[in-house]
Amino acid sequence: MNNNNQPIGIFDSGIGGTSIWKAIHQLLPNEKTIYLADSKNAPYGQKSKEEIVVLSMKNTEFLLEMNCKLIVVACNTATTNAIQELRAKYNVPFIGIEPAIKPAVTHSKTQIIGILATQGTLNSELFNKTTEKYQDTKIIEQVGHGLVQLIENGGINSPEMAQLLHSYLNPMIEANIDCLVLGCSHYPYLIPQIKKILPDHIQIIDSGEAVAKQTQNILRDKVGFSSAENNQPIFFTNTNPKVLNEILGNKFKVEEKYF
Ligand code: SIN
Repeated sequence: MNNNNQPIGIFDSGIGGTSIWKAIHQLLPNEKTIYLADSKNAPYGQKSKEEIVVLSMKNTEFLLEMNCKLIVVACNTATTNAIQELRAKYNVPFIGIEPAIKPAVTHSKTQIIGILATQGTLNSELFNKTTEKYQDTKIIEQVGHGLVQLIENGGINSPEMAQLLHSYLNPMIEANIDCLVLGCSHYPYLIPQIKKILPDHIQIIDSGEAVAKQTQNILRDKVGFSSAENNQPIFFTNTNPKVLNEILGNKFKVEEKYF
């Protein structure tokens, strides 16, 4: 495969997909990345499938205008509701994130696992087809109502966040789960708070590393790696960039753009 210096495009309904961006940037530091945070329209989790498809297409078109060679849909809700439509319409490889049910089922000893995700993800056909494959495992589903909004509003460490997490996780602990799947790209930012609530034996599983490896495979097999020197990432947001800047440690260029 020849080298390809075009950027990798990554989008999410907001700042949460930066957890996926970090995994990609860490594994593929020579790749230039463009991240799009559609925070104005967050959360996607309670929107209809039709709305999610329209927003995902708008995000994709923005990234294609920036000449991206591959697009990572760093949002579980957009992946489970729109990736088939994106693949059908645009001639560029798409990588999506799905809740890491398979690794959790494989790891679980109790065969009881929990999943915390948005309503849009848990209701999607793609998610339900995945869980149907694991009839021998009890999968306890919990919608993380309000979590994405609080994260987008800078409330990761707020007392309200702690209260919501307790109310969502305690029933899963009582049900004897031994794996918790984080089925939303925003939720890895809650891991320190989640760890304070979960007993040590419950493993937390998210999708960042798997998506980064998948991106590496597609670059190797189909698209080509970058050989460029200027690989500074660029971040775009359509709301006040303060929270995005903070989550990135104020280290990168964040541009405010009204798309
Ligand atoms: C949301 O926008 O509701 C959450 C994004 C996700 O599902 O990863």
